Amino acid sequence: MYKNILLEKSEGIGYITINRPKVLNALNKETMIELRDVVHEIGTDKDIKVVIVTGSGTKAFAAGADISEMHGMTALEGREWGKFSQKVFSDIENLSQPVIAAVNGYALGGGCELAMSCDIRIASENAKFGQPEVLLGVIPGFAGTQRLPRLVGKGKAKELLFTGEQIDAHEAYRISLVNKVVPHEELLSVAKAMAQKIQSCAPIAVQLCKVAVNEGLDTDLDTGVAYEAEVFGLCFATNDQKEGMSAFVEKRKAQFVGK
Ligand code: HXC
Repeated sequence: MYKNILLEKSEGIGYITINRPKVLNALNKETMIELRDVVHEIGTDKDIKVVIVTGSGTKAFAAGADISEMHGMTALEGREWGKFSQKVFSDIENLSQPVIAAVNGYALGGGCELAMSCDIRIASENAKFGQPEVLLGVIPGFAGTQRLPRLVGKGKAKELLFTGEQIDAHEAYRISLVNKVVPHEELLSVAKAMAQKIQSCAPIAVQLCKVAVNEGLDTDLDTGVAYEAEVFGLCFATNDQKEGMSAFVEKRKAQFVGK
């Protein structure tokens, strides 16, 4: 159905695989349009509880925006390309389901920005991260200048942005760019295990955690804390809150239904 993206749905998990391995899964316009459509499809699919994003092949998650397509762009075209893709990545960040990036190789430029738009990043030992845009005469245009400092802090982000240098998975873990590093062959099974663990929790509560973190971090602490109180209160309108707390009191396993 999609040309450059594989979409698989299995056991409540939606697997999005960027599938242009010959060019290291470079993100061209066609792929970004498909990614937008896939994200929309998944966002409205009630059977999908968690999403895993990865890249095809063993070498790359995504080696960035497609340079061969960008090199002839005018300033206005560049601006539109950036704005369009920023929106696709915001849609990923704001998907109601949790999104795990399973980073299987190079995550450079737009590839690193794609991983950063996901909620959680798991890296294979051979993953490499970087924002090499300054080596091409541009800056990150898919929100890398904004998400990277939010994840790793201003100083480290500026170092990576100013030098364009690549870091390996262990360094990415050390600076909190990724949540964990695993052997390459275990990447998808570890991502799936995490997805299953998330799935065993109350779905609306998980969704509201995501909303509270995303909304709260973009504001000051007092506003974020007040927002949390509202969202916390909302949980008490769900059956899952009654089930979760009753199950604890009755010393049994909770059966959450997402209502
Ligand atoms: C288009 C790409 C590509 C890219 C790799 N390829 N990255 N094509 N856009 N971003 C293609 C190569 O041209 C080559 O095609 C094939 O993939 C294999 O790549 P090689 O370079 O031969 O592989 P290797 O020597 O192993 O080097 C891997 C690499 C290198 C280090 C990842 O490919 C690389 O530096 N790629 C560019 C990384 C980058 O600068 N990304 C940021 C892009 S800018 P052929 O046809 O020769 O086999 C960006 C900005 C986002 O993302 C914001 C925009 C608004």
